[in-house]
Amino acid sequence: MTPTIVANWKMQLGVAASVDAATRLRATLDRDPIDATIVVCPSFLAIPYVLDPLSGSDIKLGAQDVFWTDKGAHTGEVSPTNLREVGVEYVIIGHSERRKLGETDTDVGRKTLAAAAYGLKPIICVGETSDERATGQHEHVVRRQVEGMFLSAPPPSQGMVIHLAYEPMWAIGTGEPADPATAEAIRQCIYRSLIDRYPAELVARSFRILYGGSVDPTNVTNYVGPGKFDGALVGGASLNPDTFVPLIRSCLPTTTS
Ligand code: PGA
Repeated sequence: MTPTIVANWKMQLGVAASVDAATRLRATLDRDPIDATIVVCPSFLAIPYVLDPLSGSDIKLGAQDVFWTDKGAHTGEVSPTNLREVGVEYVIIGHSERRKLGETDTDVGRKTLAAAAYGLKPIICVGETSDERATGQHEHVVRRQVEGMFLSAPPPSQGMVIHLAYEPMWAIGTGEPADPATAEAIRQCIYRSLIDRYPAELVARSFRILYGGSVDPTNVTNYVGPGKFDGALVGGASLNPDTFVPLIRSCLPTTTS
């Protein structure tokens, strides 16, 4: 299985800087293609502007959030159909930076359902705070987040792929990723939550589990690979193709050229 590497540009790059990063990423990959699913998630405003530099490439476009209904009196929200209209294929849902602002498991569940209903591929973030880990609640919290999401949801339909990203909040943007064994224990916890709910072949077909939190080119192989996570969600190290491309390359056993 080829890894999925997601670039979360957050609110770090302006429109011109996003176009520049997308253009350079595309040029680098055109010169030396990589066998991985690469998803770039610029800010909403930058999305229409990176379409042109990414057009005709294999790089997928993602958004950083989505609202749970497609139309109506919802000031400031972004509709899943609008995202589809401009060519967005993936969407990050429930990032901890949004949960910190008040987004709940229920909100994340509604957004996930809407994304799936409107043909967007969800990348759902879960992960505990440092306090929750210190008090031994991490597995319980992650299980609650995963289960909360699927409580009212029908099983993923044929062809639907849902990415779950384990991002311990204390590892995001700190330069201190989770110890690989710690991350692996939660990967297995997420997998067990899925297996408790769905048949194994459905889980294998429809779910991918990613790691996120201070991933860089030197540590990505601790997390991504056979028997490990299926890919990574990358913030800081995704902003510059000079770092991001080596990161993607280093987690592949072989590269094509
Ligand atoms: P980071 O961010 O790679 O900068 O830690 C990851 C994320 O927040 O998705």
